[in-house]
Amino acid sequence: MSEKHLDKIISLCKRRGFVFPNSEIYGGLKASYDYGPMGVALKKSISDLWWKEMTQRHQNIVGIDSSIMVHPDVWKASGHVDNFNDPMTDNKDSKKRYRVDDLLSQQKDKVINTLCETLNVKHSNDDTIFESLAHMLLEKGKDGDGLLEKAGVIDPHSGSIGKWTTPTQFNLMFKTDAGPSEKSGKEIYLRPETAQGIFINYLLIQNSMRLKVPFGIAQIGKAFRNEIVARNFIFRTREFEQMEMQYFVNPKEDAKHVKEWKEKRFNFYIDRLGIDKSNLQFHQHGESELAHYAKDAYDIQYQFPFGWGEIEGIHNRTDFDLTQHEKLSGKNMTYFDATENEKYHPYIIETSCGLNRIFLMVLCDAYFEDTENERVVLKLPFELAPNKAVICPLVKKDGLPERAAKIFEELNKKYSCIYDEQGSIGKRYYRQDEAGTPFGITIDHQTLEDNTVTIRERDSMKQTRVNEDQILKLLK
Ligand code: GAP
Repeated sequence: MSEKHLDKIISLCKRRGFVFPNSEIYGGLKASYDYGPMGVALKKSISDLWWKEMTQRHQNIVGIDSSIMVHPDVWKASGHVDNFNDPMTDNKDSKKRYRVDDLLSQQKDKVINTLCETLNVKHSNDDTIFESLAHMLLEKGKDGDGLLEKAGVIDPHSGSIGKWTTPTQFNLMFKTDAGPSEKSGKEIYLRPETAQGIFINYLLIQNSMRLKVPFGIAQIGKAFRNEIVARNFIFRTREFEQMEMQYFVNPKEDAKHVKEWKEKRFNFYIDRLGIDKSNLQFHQHGESELAHYAKDAYDIQYQFPFGWGEIEGIHNRTDFDLTQHEKLSGKNMTYFDATENEKYHPYIIETSCGLNRIFLMVLCDAYFEDTENERVVLKLPFELAPNKAVICPLVKKDGLPERAAKIFEELNKKYSCIYDEQGSIGKRYYRQDEAGTPFGITIDHQTLEDNTVTIRERDSMKQTRVNEDQILKLLK
């Protein structure tokens, strides 16, 4: 799949009501999107599957819905105030500002090879090399001045080699004031991850639900990051949704649980979302990539039209967050393990994925150009498809619409369906192929005589004549 495919998917999303550019009537707001009727339904199906997988299928995992705005000290304790930064550099001539890894990703191989040699960084073939180089440059500080220019790093804006400032950190959290005025209000942040809402509530949840380690707390919610480079459609935006699960374990057993969750989460995408396995891979974080809280971390990456991109992170956060909150709040954050008869700070194994990225992955994996039949098909699994069937009267007369509407009402009680009587039957089917609707059900004159309908299957286009009372069974 090429970058060209992404443009086609973006245009399908708009045409079929999945995703729209935000504030379009005002010229748009960069990297901001709204989910249309089909998009909301698809997003909800994905998050419902995740929720079911994590909570319903695990007796020891419970849910929470915590606030987006929390006490500002939460972010001091978590390390986000000091460490949640991206390295940035400015071109002194053009005054353009870039995220260093993003700037490097737009350079020729020769430039990257030179930087790898100069900074003694092992070259890898994926995008993580740009992050590693950016962190190296950051560590070097002033000592690294001139290295970007010497290696021939071009300003994508001007097209010529730039005069680059020393890479410095830029905090990604959105700040705002809570209270009646800027002066009297408290400076707070929009949460950059949902995880902290779980950590600060963990003992209340553990006590109220009488949980014993290992146990987990799951949450779905919005997170905000002032990304300097937000691009690739909904892959990286400033407002997004996370689905996170924090698993509290005995520190002696951390590695075992990391292994267990790595497997479970990888298989979720294949078994539940129907993603092609060959488009998925793990990437283990090297020393320079590890987040400030992590001892060990693995990304699950998907092969997007623009390259491999992270959809989920599995992190061993150790007891970092709990001990930090204990230090700053002065409250005891230990857990009493009755089996071991000891008190400790549990280690936290985190599984953290982005709902919007999974949504994009599902669309990319399902997108299929059927050149033989001159149509585009979204081969969404039945469970994810916003509508499971389209109900069509063959013509708009002779009592067919009334009969079709009756069948629609019956089916719609069980599965979300759509009724369509506009245009030729072929056009109606093709419209729904693009929207991922797995079945087309046509009511014709024969239906009035013998109660049979035609069921057309989206992917094979195979048509079968069945009795009306068989439809539900077949959809199942
Ligand atoms: N609590 C850990 C954490 O937030 P992360 O790797 O920074 O870890 C987890 O983020 C997931 O959130 C990523 O794998 C990605 O799917 C999603 N995500 C992060 N930043 C995003 C952004 N700007 N836009 C969309 N999704 C994002």
